[in-house]
Amino acid sequence: MSNNIIVAIDGYSSCGKSTLAKALAKKLHYIYVDSGAMYRAVALYFLRNNIDMSDHAQIEEALKNIHLNFHSRDYETHITLNDEEVSEEIRQMPVSEKVSEVAALKEVRREMVKQQQRMGKSKNIVMDGRDIGTAVFPHASLKLFMTADPSVRAQRRYDEIHLKNPEVTLEDIFENIAHRDYQDTTRAESPLVRAEDAVILDNTNLTPEQQLQFALERIEALK
Ligand code: CDP
Ligand code: CDP
Repeated sequence: MSNNIIVAIDGYSSCGKSTLAKALAKKLHYIYVDSGAMYRAVALYFLRNNIDMSDHAQIEEALKNIHLNFHSRDYETHITLNDEEVSEEIRQMPVSEKVSEVAALKEVRREMVKQQQRMGKSKNIVMDGRDIGTAVFPHASLKLFMTADPSVRAQRRYDEIHLKNPEVTLEDIFENIAHRDYQDTTRAESPLVRAEDAVILDNTNLTPEQQLQFALERIEALK
């Protein structure tokens, strides 16, 4: 049995999961995996190739043709879709609007979970997403469930992207976040739900440094 440390971070959209996961990985020299980037890259492929999401054979065929790879540099997420760097494109609104629908497909989830579990086989890892503590690593060493006030989350995301994407309004972002949270929590296949043994981290009033401290203390307590 392997005894590598797995930190699972789940929670609602834009509540600081990847900020925390990256900071932890950097501090502890763990591998960081952004599972959302994988679903986003699959959604990009589905968009580009007009995949009919009611056609199971088409979905299976698409999944066979999708090859994802992470290139970790400075703990930032760099992901390729069939050898093409798509890290920027997967953050744009068309993908954000499609991703939760694609992520609800059981064929897609089965394949992504399989790949994610492989990544956690032997290395210390921090993975963030929606089902990491419930489906991907139900025996994770530490599970955190993150949340924050929805308007604070929308404002943070807006501050992050509005210089690059001035056409996107705060209302667009708020609606997208609310819609994705709804889809993610109500889908049939591994919906977003707090694992019973997950520690809740509400960071509405916390800085990134404070949330890092919170998590480090819990990891220290594992030793
Ligand atoms: O925008 P944000 O960083 O909150 O989302 P993300 O982590 O990039 O994930 C994008 C979408 O992928 C989510 O809204 C979910 O629909 C889906 N996802 C999922 O279903 N399971 C995961 N483990 C990670 C993401
Ligand atoms: O990964 P997730 O979608 O949950 O969120 P994120 O991309 O880590 O964080 C969304 C935005 O909130 C980023 O711009 C972070 O810098 C910011 N943030 C913050 O201002 N305060 C925190 N305590 C956590 C995140």
